[in-house]
Amino acid sequence: MKALTPRFPHLLHGGDYNPDQWLDRPDILEKDIELMKEAHINCVSVGIFSWAKLEPKEGEYHLDWLQEIIDRLYRNGIYTVLATPSGAKPVWMSEKYPEIRRVSRELRRDETGGRHNHCYTSPLYREKVKAIDRKLAERFASHPGVILWHLSNEYGGVCYCPLCQAAFREWLKKKYGTLEELNHQWWTDFWSHTYTDWEQIHAPMPNGETGTHGLNLDWKRFCTDQVIDFMKLERDTVKAVNPELPVTTNFMYYFDDYNYGKFRDELDVISWDSYPWWKAGDNSDTAAQVALWHDVMRSLKKQPFLLMESTPSMTNWTPVSRLKRPGMHMAQCMQAIAHGSNSIQYFQFRKSRGSTEKFHGAVVDHYGGSDTRVFRDVTEVGERLEALDSLSHSEIKPQAAILFDTENGWALKDAAGPRNCGIHYVETVQQHYKALWKQGIGMDVIDEEGDLSGYKLVIAPMLYLLRGGIEEKLRRFVENGGTLVGTYLTGLVNENDLCHLGGWPGAGLRELFGVWNESTDGLWDGEKNTLCTDGKTYEVSELCALIHGEGAKVLGTYGEDFYQNEPAFTVNEFGKGKAYYIAARTEDRFCDDLYHELAERLELKKALNSDPPRGVEACLRETEETRYLFLQNFSGEEKNVSLPAGYHTFPGGEEKKQITLPPYGSAVLQGSTK
Ligand code: GLA
Ligand code: ZN
Repeated sequence: MKALTPRFPHLLHGGDYNPDQWLDRPDILEKDIELMKEAHINCVSVGIFSWAKLEPKEGEYHLDWLQEIIDRLYRNGIYTVLATPSGAKPVWMSEKYPEIRRVSRELRRDETGGRHNHCYTSPLYREKVKAIDRKLAERFASHPGVILWHLSNEYGGVCYCPLCQAAFREWLKKKYGTLEELNHQWWTDFWSHTYTDWEQIHAPMPNGETGTHGLNLDWKRFCTDQVIDFMKLERDTVKAVNPELPVTTNFMYYFDDYNYGKFRDELDVISWDSYPWWKAGDNSDTAAQVALWHDVMRSLKKQPFLLMESTPSMTNWTPVSRLKRPGMHMAQCMQAIAHGSNSIQYFQFRKSRGSTEKFHGAVVDHYGGSDTRVFRDVTEVGERLEALDSLSHSEIKPQAAILFDTENGWALKDAAGPRNCGIHYVETVQQHYKALWKQGIGMDVIDEEGDLSGYKLVIAPMLYLLRGGIEEKLRRFVENGGTLVGTYLTGLVNENDLCHLGGWPGAGLRELFGVWNESTDGLWDGEKNTLCTDGKTYEVSELCALIHGEGAKVLGTYGEDFYQNEPAFTVNEFGKGKAYYIAARTEDRFCDDLYHELAERLELKKALNSDPPRGVEACLRETEETRYLFLQNFSGEEKNVSLPAGYHTFPGGEEKKQITLPPYGSAVLQGSTK
């Protein structure tokens, strides 16, 4: 496997470093280096919000200060992830060129201020970004200390300015060719919303069109493509100077302004920023949510990723700023590594003295010394990463995958029925994911464009919108012996949100699952039914599909209501494989039991011989010779974990049969793969 950062092919430890806020304090800049070395920091991200220091006046570039910083870091064995500064525009630029400021859904142009709020289309902003990016690349892209480009920061949001809307119309012309085709795909005869001129098309807006689902989807797709186009401009500018230096951009948690899947082939490295809301007590739900998102990031390119930001202590934008309980920092960091991260990076190295993030956690506090709890926690992680360095070359190849598709999520949110008070797509994906996570089974989290070959089990909850040829891939997967689990609301609409005709699940999935879903009952909050299977009864709620078996074997039936005794859970033999259909939203216990049975039947690889104790996460990450077992106790209570044979405490310790983890304790154990 190719290293993520070939110039420094190691696990990275460090984070955002903003020396531009301290240029008048050379003593502090000196001290920073000393403290970084003490904390075993080997890599920092520089220049993310430095544009005003780099180009204080239009066309006047000041790069010497940055050169000094990068040189000094390098001399001291600390590598630089260099940012392009497009995430925050200088005040002079914003005031001089209103065009670069974003326009809101209410068609009001932003005033100067904030960040991450530029127009992605503005030719003027693009020109300015290109100019500064080129200057940075010419000066630093061949610097031996610079290992990666950090393009902008957390691309996000949408602009409704006339330039963006005009670009949207061009995008639509390319997609549909004719207005007739667009009108047909958007079903605009409904309410007489037929377009007779391209200029009549506007972005979906609260006081305009919101009910044309094809329009809503296409607008989001356009916004994704537009931000990627902007990102490519940045990427191609820096790559023109040195094509070898890899690029990344930092993604966010459960962020669906854009479809991150579309960035997959445009970036060399995937990275993301993780800020879990830990509390006291049991944190296993939060841990499972973060685990899923780590797996989303790793699965994008099916290679290790970078944790680009996390807080070493507290987060200041959350409702409360909880300090991490003892042990939690290491547990959180090891969780990221266990799921495939090749870095632990923080926001930020030194706390800002003023402005809105002055109380956000940082490695170095306003106090300035290293004798703090946070600094000790960070140092311990640095030492651990050095010991784990061989992992940077490992691959993770799970045998199970869950489909989680952003565009499907957009369409479900917009579906208008059968449950407008909460369709709960993300929660359902999370529920199924957690049932395997609890067993210590590694998973990929892929979207409808993903490749299904190589998995034994594919779980596809609420696969409502079919796109990217997924129906064919699912058929082939099962035909060749795979096991598929699908649910209610599968295969209702095509990629433009037009309903499949002729019975759901559409597009041939009816044959695959061997069921016909005639209708779906949306239940009010608090209403319940039951699913009875194999002598057991499980509670179901929220969504109950009324299905007819068409070749599938009925495994479970409804317990109540006018559809009592009708099928609620089925399995269909298809080719060499099996397709399960769960017709109703079940309680967790159902998923736990189902996935235990499937894990056993399919002999899915587990991190331990049996389930880890409740709240303990168990993951494996392997190199050719060594298997690392990661255990993180998120339960808030002490737990004993029995270990499979052949594991030693890490690094290089004694063989263990059992290990005791204190609340939020974590452990890494080492075994041989031979
Ligand atoms: C984001 C940003 C950072 C910083 C942190 C604070 O992830 O990228 O610049 O604002 O949040 O949590
Ligand atoms: Zn715009």
